[in-house]
Amino acid sequence: MNKLELQGIQHTFAGKKQRVTVLSDISLHVKEGEFVTIIGPSGSGKSTLFHIIGGLVTPTAGDVWLDGAKVTGIKGLISYMPQQPALFPWRTIEANVALAQEVAGVPRQDAVAKAREWLPKVGLAGYEQELPHVLSGGMQQRVSFLRALLSPQEVMCLDEPFGSLDALTRQDMQAWLLNIWEKNRRSILFVTHSIEEALFLSDRIYVISNKPAEILEELVVPFARPRQEEVNLEPAFHKLRKHIQSLLRQEVQS
Ligand SMILES: Nc1ncnc2c1ncn2[C@@H]1O[C@H](COP(=O)(O)OP(=O)(O)O)[C@@H](O)[C@H]1O
Ligand SMILES: [Mg+2]
Repeated sequence: MNKLELQGIQHTFAGKKQRVTVLSDISLHVKEGEFVTIIGPSGSGKSTLFHIIGGLVTPTAGDVWLDGAKVTGIKGLISYMPQQPALFPWRTIEANVALAQEVAGVPRQDAVAKAREWLPKVGLAGYEQELPHVLSGGMQQRVSFLRALLSPQEVMCLDEPFGSLDALTRQDMQAWLLNIWEKNRRSILFVTHSIEEALFLSDRIYVISNKPAEILEELVVPFARPRQEEVNLEPAFHKLRKHIQSLLRQEVQS
């Protein structure tokens, strides 16, 4: 059985003057313990798709399935890192990290203890009691990432989690995420712009088109686990990168 499955998701935003169809027909799945990435042009509807999976937006057509049950429009069932960090400005960093766990039913003390244990591991030791405005954008993103990571739901959706990090921090965070994931193997659906990042992290990749988005191709990433950083030197990596590049380039031109 698939952990997460989307069947024929279609979505149209109805504005005052016009209707915009963002997603035309998206069907995809994530198996138990699988790392799946969606890559597509900016504005193609990736964040909208995540809002639909998270139950924040109800799709115009199609359904979301979790562990074989239809969950379309239901909130709180997946752990979700939004593209914008969305921290509560009046809550301390540790309280922000603890919140998603508390909402999911973890006792407050345990949630805060977990937050304190993990904040140093994402380079935020000493910031536990600060408010979010003290942190840089990249640091806020790490808080938001940790909040999703520690939230107990089995499926994790990460929307461009490393988008505002500089290249070196980004590589560190990718390696760190892989390390954690390889230890406890949650099911992950990941969105990125970066072809290298997708190839480095994923088991499978869905390449999607411009809006109204549809799936252009599904690719299996063949590299062994645990992934080595040098995987990007392999000829197969180069070939897949070129292939995805050409798919996306056609989208930019069309
Ligand atoms: N609430 C909304 N109302 C109308 N249009 C929206 C709304 N949210 C997003 N859109 C439009 O949907 C398209 C896809 O947006 P988004 O899902 O953020 O794309 P991506 O994450 O792939 O960059 C964009 O053209 C955006 O303007
Ligand atoms: Mg987006």
